[in-house]
Amino acid sequence: MDKYEYLQDLMRRRGFAWGSFEIYGGARGFYDYGPLGATIKRKIEEKIRRAFIREGFFEIETPDITPERVFIASGHVEKFVDPLVECKKCGARFRADHLIEEALNIETEGLSAEELTRIIREHELKCPECGGELSDVWYFNLMFETYIGPYKDKKAYLRPETAQGIFVNFKRLNAFARNRLPFGVFQIGKAYRNEISPRQGMIRLREFTQAEAEIFFDPRNPEHPHFDEVKDEVLRLYPTEHQLKGLGEIEITAEEAVKKGYVLNTLFAYYMVMVKRILLDIGIPEKAIRFRQQLPEERAHYSTDTWDAEIHSERFGWVECVGIAYRTDYDLKRHIKESGADLTVMIHYDEPKVVKRLQVSLNMKRVGPRLKGDAKKVNERLKAMSQEELERLVKEVEEKGKVTVEGYELEKEDFVIKEIEEKVTGEKIIPHVLEPSFGIDRPFYLLLENSLVEEDGRIYLKIKKDMAPIEVAVLPLVAKEPLTSIAYEIFRTLQKEGFIVVYDEKDSIGKRYLRYDEIGTPYCITIDNQTPEDGTVTIRDRDTREQERVKIEELPKRLRELLFS
Ligand code: GAP
Repeated sequence: MDKYEYLQDLMRRRGFAWGSFEIYGGARGFYDYGPLGATIKRKIEEKIRRAFIREGFFEIETPDITPERVFIASGHVEKFVDPLVECKKCGARFRADHLIEEALNIETEGLSAEELTRIIREHELKCPECGGELSDVWYFNLMFETYIGPYKDKKAYLRPETAQGIFVNFKRLNAFARNRLPFGVFQIGKAYRNEISPRQGMIRLREFTQAEAEIFFDPRNPEHPHFDEVKDEVLRLYPTEHQLKGLGEIEITAEEAVKKGYVLNTLFAYYMVMVKRILLDIGIPEKAIRFRQQLPEERAHYSTDTWDAEIHSERFGWVECVGIAYRTDYDLKRHIKESGADLTVMIHYDEPKVVKRLQVSLNMKRVGPRLKGDAKKVNERLKAMSQEELERLVKEVEEKGKVTVEGYELEKEDFVIKEIEEKVTGEKIIPHVLEPSFGIDRPFYLLLENSLVEEDGRIYLKIKKDMAPIEVAVLPLVAKEPLTSIAYEIFRTLQKEGFIVVYDEKDSIGKRYLRYDEIGTPYCITIDNQTPEDGTVTIRDRDTREQERVKIEELPKRLRELLFS
């Protein structure tokens, strides 16, 4: 069986998922979830949501459409780009780096558009589709552009990650967390990337769902307070060091992984274990999960260390499904700079301390007439600066004679620079961030792929029972009274009890069992000729095909035990 082909057909035929806009010829990179798919997707999201809530994270929801400045600050306008090349003959467009890597087997990470063009010319690379000549390479930003309001001057983007919605709200979230680190915030929502040539079904989409969590912590204490609870958990790692030495995978406890230095700290290890537990809870088999450390050139612009949780696919090999990135203070720092907002946290000392502090403000007599109303903005910016930033500013103005703040070029005399002694009860820091970022669509597809089994001539979806899109099917043995009335009543009772349940009387019972096995329904309730006599029905198990007889009134309790405990 070719699982990929089989699944594509099953997903379309039975209502899991299919390419969007079918009746208009389709649009690559977009998928619709049908009734069964939407239910599984919601169950995946719910497992992730519950796991974060159990860890004390706060959930928020922010807009998909985001003003340009947010992504100027985050670095996405500049850095979220892929190199593109076009065929001059047929017009087909390709990722220039992929084209070169495939044709010449050389690394292209970090090369400029000119350098990539030079390689294409030197090696006389041609269009893979028609053999035509290729254009120069240019960098293409993957964000979808739009505008806010009726004028085209308010540029905006569809967010390429949900994370920025959390960073821009840091001030309010920190207040909500009562100014105490560490704390975590997550959001589940759509992200958009105008991928150049998405050709891998649900693996590379242009619109997809993410569940991203940001853990804000004091960089001087990057340890997880509950690490002991997870330290013995075994992780399957594929660390860079080993990758480079070609040693491959290792199985190692979370504690050893930190001790040996593969994983940066216990905070990282804690969330790797958490990610693994969530994937297991969703129903991904343990052997199909591993963690791979990204090579430095693979990492996103904001990360200094990233581990991917990968899930194995028969078709696609190991697929990145969750990225766990150490984003340092990159995002908050950039948003402080761009917005001028104070996105710091006050850390209180046990005892007050006397410290020397730089205080820098504007010399209003000198700059007041020039800056006018903007002086307030500049002063606020100076006030929001950390000691580190102020030291840098003073050094720069002393060395170069001038410095730019909020777009104004200022000289040393434009400032009042004081070193003051102060009794302080705490200090402001910019928290660092660790980010576990789940995609939902990839785990969705890979859960189906890993659940599809062929056993004793039967192909069925052996999906984890609590993840099944239809939990119970109620089937009268034959479509005749009184079996149908009793069956319908049972169906209605189970529906009211909260099960996802269907009633089905069409076709022979054997055909119906196969039909529900195919979509992973764990239990079929059969109302047979014995039912009117003694008030019992059978529960048929999808995997063993064994039947158990229970009293009708015991059904909800028994099903709950079977499905959810
Ligand atoms: N905020 C960090 C971030 O966005 P990422 O590794 O680019 O990191 C995180 O994305 C996850 O989102 C991935 O591990 C993957 O599951 C999912 N994802 C990213 N791009 C995707 C795409 N084009 N189609 C489907 N899922 C995608």
